[in-house]
Amino acid sequence: MSKIKYFGDETIPLEMHKVRIVQKLGLPPIERRLEVMTKAGNNTFLLPNEEVFLDMLTDSGVNAMSDQQLAAMMVADDAYAGSATYTRLETKLRDIFGMEYFLPAHQGRACEHILAKVLVTPGSVVPMNYHFTTTKAHITLQGGVVEELVSDAGLEVTSRLPFKGDMDIGKLNAVIAKWGADKVAFVRVESGTNLIGGQPVSIENLAAVSAVCRANGIMLVMDASLLADNLHFNKTREPSCKDLSIREITRKIADLCDIIYFSARKLGCARGGGICIRHQDVYLKMRGLVPLYEGFLTYGGMSVREIEALTVGLEETMDEDMINQGPQFIAYMVDELDRRGVPVITPPGGLGCHVDAKRFVDHIPQSQYPAGALASALYIAAGIRGMERGTLSEQREPDGREVFSNMELVRLALPRRVFTLSQVKYAIDRLSWLHANRRLVGGLTFVEEPEVLRFFYGLLKPVSDWQERLVAKFRADFGDSL
Ligand code: F0G
Repeated sequence: MSKIKYFGDETIPLEMHKVRIVQKLGLPPIERRLEVMTKAGNNTFLLPNEEVFLDMLTDSGVNAMSDQQLAAMMVADDAYAGSATYTRLETKLRDIFGMEYFLPAHQGRACEHILAKVLVTPGSVVPMNYHFTTTKAHITLQGGVVEELVSDAGLEVTSRLPFKGDMDIGKLNAVIAKWGADKVAFVRVESGTNLIGGQPVSIENLAAVSAVCRANGIMLVMDASLLADNLHFNKTREPSCKDLSIREITRKIADLCDIIYFSARKLGCARGGGICIRHQDVYLKMRGLVPLYEGFLTYGGMSVREIEALTVGLEETMDEDMINQGPQFIAYMVDELDRRGVPVITPPGGLGCHVDAKRFVDHIPQSQYPAGALASALYIAAGIRGMERGTLSEQREPDGREVFSNMELVRLALPRRVFTLSQVKYAIDRLSWLHANRRLVGGLTFVEEPEVLRFFYGLLKPVSDWQERLVAKFRADFGDSL
């Protein structure tokens, strides 16, 4: 993804890697896709992957690994205690983040569990730019309260703001004044803010947050799961980072924080997680929970092969050509859709392309789950699996009232180095067709609604025969095309 200028008019992202292992894909005919979607209760989490053409559900644990990562897996040192593989990971993290202590965990939410158990007490508050589902669940489970302080402009769906994940410093000061610094368990900043569209945080803002934290004796914790994308945006959108290497930007970020935790299912293109800690006393408070919940201190629930791959993956994350791939493909997809009038979150962020269902299917009321309906329609029309991020992902009030989400999004994740540009172009083509035929898409209603995390297991049905009509229109327009 180096900066390459083209002779012709079209500027396209260029891969700085070649594909050496492939997985065969199938695209079932649209009649079959309707059948499969009906059986899955219009819930993309319940689709069997073998019936999916492009799996854009998430980037978690499904980024492509490099030859160096796979090779490293073969030399992993299998030992319950004191594995040399673990020492290599610890050394790499110390080198990259400059924090003395590290605790391994089996994935990101396991880190959140440990952090919340040790730092969050009933009646405490955790201010953050924006929540992630698992983060909020662990904090509230410990009796803590989450305060979301992303700037109002960060919540605008279409924008030119380069760092929509930035925290509002005025709001942060107000929350600390309201609760008192001693009630603030820690301040959390999420890099590449997931639920608002993979939007980055600037170093300038992080420095301001850090200054407030230090002045009030509060720890600053970064969720670095999506740090790779964030680093790309620091480098390309923040003037003060223009001449810094990715490694230097990473260290600048780390120096502002007290704790950095991450899901290695995202950061480092492996499967696992961990917590880097600056201060010994905090480390000692958390250490006991790792053998209890995760595994011994030198593997923490991860396989040594994944640890070895993670160590290499973290080093590869310091390579601009590597971390540019995701954001550049996403920017291509977002810009092309935007140009065609398909409503998407702008500016392009990391993680994936986020389609704005509120505008796409503005005739579907929120009570009929527009983002869920659009995700269902997209699978039927194209064999593409996206993820609903809207009202379906919310939980009802105790009295049964629906909580209508701020945003109704269909997230189309682009796992790194997995899809080719022609596959992305296919997705753009089918989304454009669906947009031209959007009035055919109708709402959904629950058939079976679980009480918690209903988006994972819930079963829904269409409110009318709109899906059959969508299939008929597809056949009329595309003939016998898959
Ligand atoms: N923090 C962030 C910002 C995340 O995006 C995730 C996971 C986690 C923590 C939890 O990590 O899955 O390893 O336990 N995000 C995935 C997604 C699930 O699809 O966006 P985990």
